[in-house]
Amino acid sequence: MCETGTVTLTTPRLTLRRFTLDDAPAMYASWTSDPKVTTYLSWSPHPSVQHTRALLAGWIAEYADPTVYRWGIELASSGDLIGSIDARNSDPAIDLKEIGYCLGSRWWGRGYMTEALRSVITYLLDRVGVNRVEAAHDPRNPASGRVMAKAGMRYEGTLRAAHRNSQGLGDSMIWSTLRGELLPSEPPSGGAGSDAPATVRLATPDDLDAVTELRLAFTGRFGTLDAEQRAAVAADTADHLPDRLRGGDLVVALAEVDDRPAAVAWLDLGLRFLGRTVGPIGTLFNVWTEPDHRGRGLSRQVVRACLVEARRRGVRRVDLRATAQAQPMYARLGFRPTVYPAMRLDLTD
Ligand SMILES: CC(C)(COP(=O)(O)OP(=O)(O)OC[C@H]1O[C@@H](n2cnc3c(N)ncnc32)[C@H](O)[C@@H]1OP(=O)(O)O)[C@@H](O)C(=O)NCCC(=O)NCCS
Repeated sequence: MCETGTVTLTTPRLTLRRFTLDDAPAMYASWTSDPKVTTYLSWSPHPSVQHTRALLAGWIAEYADPTVYRWGIELASSGDLIGSIDARNSDPAIDLKEIGYCLGSRWWGRGYMTEALRSVITYLLDRVGVNRVEAAHDPRNPASGRVMAKAGMRYEGTLRAAHRNSQGLGDSMIWSTLRGELLPSEPPSGGAGSDAPATVRLATPDDLDAVTELRLAFTGRFGTLDAEQRAAVAADTADHLPDRLRGGDLVVALAEVDDRPAAVAWLDLGLRFLGRTVGPIGTLFNVWTEPDHRGRGLSRQVVRACLVEARRRGVRRVDLRATAQAQPMYARLGFRPTVYPAMRLDLTD
């Protein structure tokens, strides 16, 4: 790891920056005195601003340590200090950091913490070289789990009676992101359709419905499918997708806008080895963006997510077949035409 300490990060709506002692009144007013915030935390609301100031003094002294990451979350529009996010409990043996956060209740439900968490995860994995980012929440605090899910983390399991908070003993639901799973995200590139931000992530067996919906749209792209055909596609997806995702020889990347499926790409890693020198080869297929979301780079993002995962798994080459119309998009990702309509990307470059 290459520890940098707490440096300023910016997101579309937020500035994540170091705390200063002058922040005590805003921090006290915004969240350290707010009993709603501490319901599932291990500390109680601060009785006075002096209490907050004393805590801050300790935090500020710790900034000298480059392994300390603790940001104040400021609204870019108003400069209001609305919460905090930190990475702690590092384990250098496995390049681990654990993230915690809180936000004044006045600002809940507007996606601010998801935005902050995504930015911190990206920073830790990309810049600091952390391999595993972890976060945990009490099952009675589902909003926090939702933030972790929306930030692209994967749920791993629940430890029973594993922490104590203001409610007493609590279970801990554990989520993580590993470095290779870092999904690229690009700002919308304009064009038709909604400008809402897209979340791009790898599908799990739980995404069967979303993936089936997009596969039906893809399969019906040349004409409407009748009920029997739709049932056959749905049944085939249900029969194979969850098992193949679990088995690891299929990767599916999903883009969602407003939590609705918007684009998909499938990468078949069906163990086509061409001997030891070439290594495993992937085949990309079923790449599809819903018509309402075209023109903003979602297909490219889901394909890129598949490629990131392919690289992580040691895949050496990815093949696909694409129409002349679609080939420029793949060319932008580094694919080279071979014999039309085939294209190939060598991941060992
Ligand atoms: C958890 C917390 C950080 C969320 O911040 P936030 O900015 O409101 O989060 P976001 O707006 O990005 O996302 C919250 C999500 O939780 C959902 N949510 C809220 N209450 C929920 C509930 N009771 N059950 C299920 N989901 C809930 C929201 O609908 C939203 O999801 P959506 O975008 O799909 O609708 C904030 O509530 C907080 O600071 N709580 C107190 C401190 C805390 O619990 N910290 C985490 C300890 S692990």
